[in-house]
Amino acid sequence: MSIRNAKNRDLPAIGAIHKSQFGDHFLGQYSTRLLETYYGAFLGKSVFLVHETHETVDGFVLGAKSDQLSACRATFLRSALLRCIWETLFRPRLWREGMISGFSSLIAPRLRRGRSEDASTRPRLRLLSIAVSEEAMRKGLGTELMVAFERTIDDGSVCEYGLSFETTNYRAARFYEKMGFEVEMECKAGIYLRKKLVHNTSK
Ligand SMILES: CC(C)(COP(=O)(O)OP(=O)(O)OC[C@H]1O[C@@H](n2cnc3c(N)ncnc32)[C@H](O)[C@@H]1OP(=O)(O)O)[C@@H](O)C(=O)NCCC(=O)NCCS
Repeated sequence: MSIRNAKNRDLPAIGAIHKSQFGDHFLGQYSTRLLETYYGAFLGKSVFLVHETHETVDGFVLGAKSDQLSACRATFLRSALLRCIWETLFRPRLWREGMISGFSSLIAPRLRRGRSEDASTRPRLRLLSIAVSEEAMRKGLGTELMVAFERTIDDGSVCEYGLSFETTNYRAARFYEKMGFEVEMECKAGIYLRKKLVHNTSK
């Protein structure tokens, strides 16, 4: 068992884990091939680690500074826009969800004005995604990946990091609670958490 940086050849396994674990989320409704392209956009531009058991990738974690994550998403959209449109056409549930989130993003900046829990106060470093395969769940892999992620981002300049997840993801809520996160904000879009890093001075 080992944890290492994600490589191009890991993308099919990462796409498959995402599809099985986030199948009912927005992105998880797209094909595994599109998910591979999505995750490929983050390779080499983020902290992107995989867990391997007997040479099989059975978990991953991905995070970076918010502006870097946005740049990777933009790269993905530029490279796969036509495929995104094509796949969306055949998934009516995505039109509805896309319209709702598009509408929210149009009105959200206006609603946010004057609110103290503004996005600008959130930690800039964010964990975007963590998942382990269904067969590997509840064996401590998620914990190992979080510990490795924190060790990698802890270069002395980072004090805290944040993440968000869907309000209905109770398993994730229990997991992050155990990992020592604090609730920053809860809204319809999701639960926002943050965690202060305890700097490892022996590094
Ligand atoms: C969240 C996730 C990564 C946890 O990985 P994992 O390897 O199963 O977690 P661990 O075995 O390290 O568990 C650590 C702790 O989390 C909590 N936990 C994990 N799974 C849980 C579950 N199904 N129910 C309740 N608590 C759970 C427990 O407190 C557990 O400690 P314990 O086993 O000593 O009781 C995994 O469940 C997963 O891939 N979920 C789907 C994807 C997802 O929701 N990701 C998070 C949102 S981005």
